[in-house]
Amino acid sequence: PAPLRVGLIGFGCVGQGIYDILLRLPEFGAEVRRIAVKNPDKVRSLPAEHFTYHADELLADPALDVLVEVIDDAEEAFRLVSTALRRGRRVVTANKAMVARHLPELVALQQTHGGTLLYEAAVCGSIPVIRTLDAYFGQEPLRSVSGIFNGSSNYVLTRMGAEGSDYAPALAEAQAKGFAETDPTLDMAAFDPRSKAVILAAHAYGVLLRPEQVLNLGIEHIGATDIAYAGLEGQKIKVVAGLYLLPDGQLTVLVTPQFVGRESPLYAVDDEFNGVIIEAEFAGTQFLRGRGAGGHPTGSAVLADLAALRGDFRYAYAKLQATPLVYTTDLELEIY
Ligand code: HSE
Repeated sequence: PAPLRVGLIGFGCVGQGIYDILLRLPEFGAEVRRIAVKNPDKVRSLPAEHFTYHADELLADPALDVLVEVIDDAEEAFRLVSTALRRGRRVVTANKAMVARHLPELVALQQTHGGTLLYEAAVCGSIPVIRTLDAYFGQEPLRSVSGIFNGSSNYVLTRMGAEGSDYAPALAEAQAKGFAETDPTLDMAAFDPRSKAVILAAHAYGVLLRPEQVLNLGIEHIGATDIAYAGLEGQKIKVVAGLYLLPDGQLTVLVTPQFVGRESPLYAVDDEFNGVIIEAEFAGTQFLRGRGAGGHPTGSAVLADLAALRGDFRYAYAKLQATPLVYTTDLELEIY
């Protein structure tokens, strides 16, 4: 088969990760033909002739089969991705803030113009959680979907707990390893896992939430003594994102630090790892664990999306089909 011609928009940690993966897997048959970046002055790992500074050129290039959008800026990402979808193009993105904020429009654009958007890399890095919820659990009622959705804050908590590191050096390490967002507040104050919870609410429950409807508390005020106290009780502190279906059919979604004991599979999810627990009506409980951040793990999810696109896969949005494409406004949050 002819190689899949990829236009890459963004060449940060994830962009370089996917570029490297495709180079290492020539048998996969995908080539990055063009790369668009914002800043012409930045020193990069490839010669300047590989880059263009006008991402819009890629959107209009008929010699590209797929666009992979991995830039930082959520609103610019939405402008680019929505323009591409309006032209019926196939797009892969890793931008969780963008997807969480614009999911109704992104779904409607695919329905109207026939393009496809996949975003497995946007939630929990390498863990195939969206595909699992969308394709595999599309029919089955789910009691809960919960877990650790942010690698950077988990990394900081792990370093503080295991080595007694201070917060700032532990965060600097997470940044150096390429786990953290450019603005680390998004990780540390749990805005990033909140975006991921919003995306999973659509795929697991067919519920479209605005990010602001979801409580997010992060780790900025957690100190060494808090972690030591948890340890004395045989527990760890983890930032747990939870989507829980109440018996009356309402959904609770919140992201908060919690004490987690050994009985939970999340207890052993340390460093940049993420974990997702799915409690399904008929399947029972399942647990997925894997790397939630970093160039190669996130690139691996992009690779899986490229393979899926080649097979004409698209999200079923089975549960979303049953509900109108508008944000749910009557969600009642139970805070406990
Ligand atoms: N900053 C994110 C994290 C990257 O730490 O989990 C993956 O989405």
